[in-house]
Amino acid sequence: MPNAVFLGTGHFVPDCVVTNEELAELMDTSDEWIQQRTGIQQRRFVDFDKEPMGASDLGTRAARNALDAAGMSTDHVDCIIYATLSPDKAFPGDGVLVQAKLDIPAGVPAFDIRNQCSGFLYGLQMANAFIRQGVYNNVLLIGSEVHSSGLEFADRGREVSVIFGDGGAAAVLGASDDNERGVLGVTLHADGRFAEVLETSCPSSALNPRVTKEMLDTGAQYPRMQGKLVFKNAVQRMPEAVSKVLAEHDVEPKDIKLLIPHQANLRISEMVQRRLGLRDDQVFNNIQKYGNTTAASIPLALDEAVKEGRLQKGDLLVLTAFGAGFTWGAALVRW
Ligand code: UT7
Repeated sequence: MPNAVFLGTGHFVPDCVVTNEELAELMDTSDEWIQQRTGIQQRRFVDFDKEPMGASDLGTRAARNALDAAGMSTDHVDCIIYATLSPDKAFPGDGVLVQAKLDIPAGVPAFDIRNQCSGFLYGLQMANAFIRQGVYNNVLLIGSEVHSSGLEFADRGREVSVIFGDGGAAAVLGASDDNERGVLGVTLHADGRFAEVLETSCPSSALNPRVTKEMLDTGAQYPRMQGKLVFKNAVQRMPEAVSKVLAEHDVEPKDIKLLIPHQANLRISEMVQRRLGLRDDQVFNNIQKYGNTTAASIPLALDEAVKEGRLQKGDLLVLTAFGAGFTWGAALVRW
């Protein structure tokens, strides 16, 4: 049975940097509050006046960079898996949009998955299973989000709108006969009883019409979150999932070269690190620069870690995520 190895990673973020001070001009918040509670210093937003872009555009450019890093042409991609909570359109999904924009041959399947902050890990589990079973050889796995056009930049939305940023990132996974390397295991979980704790409720197929002016007036088109409850669950579930995947493969936390937690909040990452007993050099964070980019956050951090030389062949890498749904999980990879 072949192993699924990372052949290349890439990312793309819009040029426009938005600082905490700039957000403080739009709503009652401050650089001090945002940094103290989240660690975020800035994020990237699409500049819709200058160069409008959807999540599929960011995802396309990220995928191009990942394919270049893998030294691979689009002809070699035989499956696309695309994770986002901010697709360009209600349908069709962004997977086929990326396929067309990259000129990936007609006939190649494109999956769209909706697992929010855990989207990349859910996609990784799929890619790993497909590759190990010999269904597909080279899977292009993308996580991409444009949040900025869907946030409420007013006092009512401030708890949510200060944390999210735009970005896309991707990885190419391929079959390898090297049984020492690759994805060693992925553990995934969900608990739908918490679905309303973090959600965007409108437009909705459960409503007719799906959206009305009254709904828009109440701000139902914007994400709402019970932040403290999400925080509490995140700092419990991510260490749990990491411990599970490590135990399944007889790996101790001290053996991990790098942990990349989903970049939701630097305070969450720090607590996950403490609970797992990891040193600072074992954890990679870049939320300070990008905010929370949801499905893009893990591959965006992974790509930066790779470019900074933080991973060498044979190193043990752990990824973990928690987000809306709730959904969460962890993956163990031998680089
Ligand atoms: O990707 C996965 C999904 N998201 C997450 O993982 C996020 C998890 N949650 C969090 O990271 C934190 O709950 C937040 C950073 C969102 C909020 O931090 P908190 O320490 O839980 O703050 P809070 O909601 O308890 O609010 C504390 C105070 C409140 O004021 P009062 O009631 O004490 O007067 C809020 O109204 O801070 C106020 N507040 C703000 N103040 C300035 C809320 N948002 C802001 C803001 N700027 N942006």
